Amino acid sequence: MTTPITIALTKGRLEKETIRILESLGIDCTEVKDKGRKLILQSQNRDFRFILVKAVDVLTYVEHGVADIGIVGKDVLLENGKDDFEMLDLQFGKCDFCLASVPSYDPESQRRKVIATKYPNVAAHYFRQQGQDVEIIKIEGSVEIAPLLGLADAIVDIVETGETLRENGLVIFDKLAPISARLIVNRTALKKHTQPIFDLIDRLDTYIENRQEADV
Ligand code: PRP
Repeated sequence: MTTPITIALTKGRLEKETIRILESLGIDCTEVKDKGRKLILQSQNRDFRFILVKAVDVLTYVEHGVADIGIVGKDVLLENGKDDFEMLDLQFGKCDFCLASVPSYDPESQRRKVIATKYPNVAAHYFRQQGQDVEIIKIEGSVEIAPLLGLADAIVDIVETGETLRENGLVIFDKLAPISARLIVNRTALKKHTQPIFDLIDRLDTYIENRQEADV
C-alpha cells in the first residue's frame, strides 16, 4: 500500500472552496465534508489524508513535514516570512491587506501612530517602508473596533468584501498587498512523493487556467 499524501487544510474561510476544488479534481472529500468533530480524515481510496487546522498551524504542520502539502492564505505566509514554501497561487480567497481607519485619520500626520493588527510583522514592514516609526498592538480578532474605541489610530487587516469596514464606519487609506490561497509544499515530501505531488500541482494549475478562461 502506498503512503497517503497528507494535506493540511485551513479551517473556516478557505475550507469550502478548497474542498470544492479538490473534489472537482476527482479527490474524494466525503469524510472532510461529513467530518463532525473528526480532525484527521481520509479520501475513500486512502491516497490522501487530510487534517483540518487553523491557518497558522497549516504552516507549522507543513514546515515540520507532518503534512506534505498545505492550503493556506498568503497573509499567513507573509506574516510568518515563509514565502519559500509556496508552490502555486490558487487564485481564490482573494482579499487585500489594507490600512484602514475612521475617515478623520491623517496618514501624513507626523505624530507617532498606534496601529492595531493581527499581522504585526506585515504592519511593521509596511510602516518601515513608509519611513514611519509606529507602535503596533497585536489584536486577535475584530480589529475594526480598535480605532473606534481609541485603542489605535488605524488598523492593518485583511479586507475581502469591505463589509466589515463599511458597517463600522471605517475607510481604506492604503492597499498593502493582494492575498489569495496558496499551495505550500514541504521540500522533503516533494522528494519523497515527487510524482503524485507534481501531478496534483499540474491538475490544480490546469483547473485554475480553465476557470480563468471561463471567467473571461
Ligand atoms: C477578517 C478580517 C476582517 C474581515 C474582513 O476577519 O480580519 O475583520 O474578515 O472581511 P470583509 O471585508 O468581507 O468584511 P475574520 O472573519 O477572519 O474574523 P476575525 O475578525 O475574528 O479575525
